[in-house]
Amino acid sequence: MALTEDTWSPASWRSCPALHQPQWPVEAAADAVRGTLASMPPLVFAGEARGLQESLAAVADGRAFLLQAGDCAESFHDFSAISIREKLKIILQMAAVLTYGSMLPVVKLGRIAGQFAKPRSSPTEVVNGVELPSFRGHMVNGDEPTAEARGFDPDRMLQAYHQSASTLNLLRAFTKGGFADLTKVHLWNQEFVGSSPEGRRYQAIASEIARALRFMAACGIDLEGERSLHEVDVWTSHEGLLLDYEQGLTRRDSLTGRWYDCSAHMLWIGDRTRQLDGAHVAFFAGVNNPIGVKLGPTATEADVAGLCEALNPNRLPGRLTVIARMGAGRVEELLPPLIRAARQGEHPVVWVCDPMHGNAFRTASGYKTRRFEDIMGEIQGFFSACLGEGAWPGGVHLEFTGEHVTECLGGSQEVLEDHLDHNYATLCDPRLNARQSLDLAFRVAELMRTAEANR
Ligand code: PEP
Ligand code: CO
Repeated sequence: MALTEDTWSPASWRSCPALHQPQWPVEAAADAVRGTLASMPPLVFAGEARGLQESLAAVADGRAFLLQAGDCAESFHDFSAISIREKLKIILQMAAVLTYGSMLPVVKLGRIAGQFAKPRSSPTEVVNGVELPSFRGHMVNGDEPTAEARGFDPDRMLQAYHQSASTLNLLRAFTKGGFADLTKVHLWNQEFVGSSPEGRRYQAIASEIARALRFMAACGIDLEGERSLHEVDVWTSHEGLLLDYEQGLTRRDSLTGRWYDCSAHMLWIGDRTRQLDGAHVAFFAGVNNPIGVKLGPTATEADVAGLCEALNPNRLPGRLTVIARMGAGRVEELLPPLIRAARQGEHPVVWVCDPMHGNAFRTASGYKTRRFEDIMGEIQGFFSACLGEGAWPGGVHLEFTGEHVTECLGGSQEVLEDHLDHNYATLCDPRLNARQSLDLAFRVAELMRTAEANR
């Protein structure tokens, strides 16, 4: 059945199988929370979602690059102006490196202000000999390993909403109120990064940018009046996993009469919930935000054709982003047929590489980690797979943090296995630290330059 504006409603997903949804202890309590969410102000506006879709259309067309990054899972405990500012700094810093290196616009999209629900490979885990429900993200339960904390509580959706609202408020203030001004490019370098080789390399670029600005001013260009030098757009995104929350925040746009999920500018469907007859595809087929879908190694050409048709039947450029997470050793073999399947259906797709989720493993001491070299290896494989098929390698999707954590191995300041316990702070998957992120940006900028030169 075609999901048209007439047959679709924010609740119609309920007639489809919905994976990874918590069984709330009292359904009526979850219904009440959804009602409350539906009465709250939207977090983003439809017009903004359309603005992001326009920027993503430029990526689909090979005229821009997407940097999507943030925490694996945001935390109710780590909620402060400093932590938001540090994440924003890394995004701005990486974007400056990518833009300067490639001379292409970089679309900046946080995994932020809503990334609070996680799919888990097992519904339970054993901690100190006791079997507990798995942690599902702070929107659903607590991370502490007690039966009480791990119980599902729908009121957490309201807390997630409020934390997202405050996070967005600060992001808007920082990005429109002077912090993201290009004349501040030096200040985005973190103190502990500044003296490292990556930090010095960044300072060199920052100085070049400052010189270019002075050059333009000397030529008589009115830099004061040029909005794009003083403000940036940093858009928000999260995995649209918990459909009670997404439904509650879905609104009809007064301007166009169309439905938008106003919890974030962009939402993506995870690799575990992308079934064609499932609730997530049914839900996101009907909202008009830009949508992403993650594809892991089990994805087939038929999956790609079906997802493109279900989520972007009108073939709007920028509407659909496919985020491949195949693993470093497999991307060059697995991605090309999927690119061809989309092309055969004449579907415009933004192709993005998630080099994180296909490369995780557990160390002997029990830490879940990823190697920096595997992460870079998957990005390299992704670039060659796309370029080999004549497709634009449109972006990267990363898990990182502004702090100096020790969660991923390697990088120029070699994090070794026995360093992992120094500062392993993630609630879920291991993240790149600030130096690893900057290092990665320099290497991706080089890949982009080569890609540009070979087009
Ligand atoms: C994630 O992005 O944290 C995630 C769970 O990814 P995937 O759906 O690719 O497994
Ligand atoms: Co993750």
